[in-house]
Amino acid sequence: MRLRTAVVVSTVGLLAAAGTLVFASNASAATTLGASAAERGGRYFGTAVAASRLNDSAYTTILNREFNQVTPENEMKIDATEPQQGQFSYGNADRIVQYATSRGMKVRGHTLAWHSQQPGWMQNMSGSALRQAILNHVTQVATHFRGQVTWWDVVNEAYADGSSGARRDSNLQRTGNDWIEAAFRAADAADPNALLCYNDYNIDNWNDAKTQAVYRMVQDFKSRGVPIDCVGLQSHFTGGSNYPSNYRTTLSSFAALGVDVHITELDIRNAPTSAYSNVVNDCLAVSRCRVITVWGIRDSDSWRSSESPLLFDGSGNKKAAYNAVLTALNNGSDPGNPTTPPSTGNPTTPPPSGSCTASVTPGTVWGDRYNTSVTVNGASNWSVVVAITSPQRISATWSGSPSWDSSGYVMTMRSNGSGNTFGFTTMMNGNSSARPQIRSCTAS
Ligand code: XIL
Repeated sequence: MRLRTAVVVSTVGLLAAAGTLVFASNASAATTLGASAAERGGRYFGTAVAASRLNDSAYTTILNREFNQVTPENEMKIDATEPQQGQFSYGNADRIVQYATSRGMKVRGHTLAWHSQQPGWMQNMSGSALRQAILNHVTQVATHFRGQVTWWDVVNEAYADGSSGARRDSNLQRTGNDWIEAAFRAADAADPNALLCYNDYNIDNWNDAKTQAVYRMVQDFKSRGVPIDCVGLQSHFTGGSNYPSNYRTTLSSFAALGVDVHITELDIRNAPTSAYSNVVNDCLAVSRCRVITVWGIRDSDSWRSSESPLLFDGSGNKKAAYNAVLTALNNGSDPGNPTTPPSTGNPTTPPPSGSCTASVTPGTVWGDRYNTSVTVNGASNWSVVVAITSPQRISATWSGSPSWDSSGYVMTMRSNGSGNTFGFTTMMNGNSSARPQIRSCTAS
């Protein structure tokens, strides 16, 4: 979880670079994916990279020219990094990290905890021994890459497909439902500056039960202060899954929870230009959509090469989809949110006057109700908008002056001179899982 203070470190170089970039973009459109994404509010356009291909010069020529972000395709998975329990192996992952960071590309770590690609020893474990082993794995690997990995896919693919909205059954899930938050807390403790993501597939269609279930988990994590910064939509529109017309709604809905959204493993069967440009346009329309990563460079590098789903053909030629993506990027006007780390905006600009932050501390939970307290930073005269989920109802408040919108589910709490912490009691009314969301904090 990257703290605001951690961002200030590299200001001067970025400012100079950003200034140059702005003038360059006025003169002519960017000619590469990474450069164009950078001009759209400091976004990233990346690719999955395989260590075994780093000595293929046709491959690295495209990689070096086009992309400003990489994700190791297999080299940071559990079977690669901890092949024997307690014996860590980082050779191929380090090679990719070194390759990328020495060229100014950002690295997404993929992935700390997953039901798949586990080494044999872990597949045979269960219960508290497995819980301890996975948390140790998260801690060791996140510590090893501290300072080199910008975003971690902390947990990958923990939800089931289909209409259940349930967790996927796995050995990790059977250690207890809190395994995901335990992994996030361990990653945060090991690398407090990394941005911590939950990553999954088939969470693209806003109407899918799986999408809704992940949304509720992120909402719950945000309301309880579990450190999560981003949600990755793999967006494999291969293997029978299609780009959904409500994709932008999905991106903006996750973003509204206060997390960044990333498109992490994009590939589309037969690489239609329309679907590729739709994905880019949807991302650019959501200021918290910060990263687009394609799952490989050439069709021949793809895990689904028979579907020819990528932007370059097997000979490294740009496909029509490449031109569609670059054009969509260049036509995008949204400058993004330059204050969202780790964008290349100006991190020394003070927060706009009128802003403050509000953080939630969960309080006592009873059978029928629970308490919440909220602490405000950055203002002494503040108003905080809190939304609760129907049919829950706020039944009591303290240390602030509340008012309500007509729905009764949105409360605006104003300071009343009794400090910067207020609280309230919420009746569950049958919904014991929803928790309040902070919508805004305004200083006056
Ligand atoms: C795939 C790799 O591309 C393959 O090389 C490997 O054999 C299997 O895994 N979701 C993920 C990725 O999060 O890690 C997967 O990558 C593709 C699906």
